[in-house]
Amino acid sequence: PMPRPLAGKRVLITAGPTHEPIDPVRYIANRSSGKQGFAIAAAAQAAGAEVILVSGPVDLGDPQGVTVKHVESARQMLEQVRASLPVDIAIFAAAVADWRVASEGEQKLKKTAGSMPPLQLVENPDILATISKLTDQRPPLVIGFAAETEHLIDNAKSKLARKGCDWIVANDVSPATGVMGGDRNTVHLISRKNGESTGEIEVDSWPVMTKEQVATQLVARLVK
Ligand code: C5P
Repeated sequence: PMPRPLAGKRVLITAGPTHEPIDPVRYIANRSSGKQGFAIAAAAQAAGAEVILVSGPVDLGDPQGVTVKHVESARQMLEQVRASLPVDIAIFAAAVADWRVASEGEQKLKKTAGSMPPLQLVENPDILATISKLTDQRPPLVIGFAAETEHLIDNAKSKLARKGCDWIVANDVSPATGVMGGDRNTVHLISRKNGESTGEIEVDSWPVMTKEQVATQLVARLVK
């Protein structure tokens, strides 16, 4: 039989982009494919965990044996994440939109010659920070992702502190890397020495590998 080192553990994963509605037919989105988060869900399930995957709109099939909750917007994602607690481990791999349109039009916006509809944006809730800062149901291990196009390690280190999570998986998503939407990823695992919140920050840089291999390595770290 296969070893099931995460048996008995509940693992929550967010994945994919979010869609923020402008009106009934238009939305704001990003280039996230959901592949990395889905690969982590599959790897955690294979390791015996009970996995809940909260996913934005993606073109991927639901992984076998995983409970998948499909959402569109950041606010719906936060609601489904909250409803999935308590969990032992939470991994926030989704590329959540930072902003949404302030007032979603009830009808399709009409084109008027010479005048553009103003798009007022408001901030979305930060799901990772919200869950990291819970006092009652904070998962014992909270992992965030940092997708950056510059100053990758420095931005990821400050994110670790600002968001209040335990680990950050940092990846460079500059267009030349092909990470967004692609099948490979180069990541740096940022954590604190001995898992202590005041511990020295450690950076573990992994070689380029497939998103499935990143998922397998990450799950191996969870097991440790
Ligand atoms: O600040 P930034 O968006 O780069 O942070 C990335 C991390 O925060 C990812 O783990 C992402 O899933 C999470 N996040 C979130 N909710 C947001 C924005 C980001 O959970 N509204």
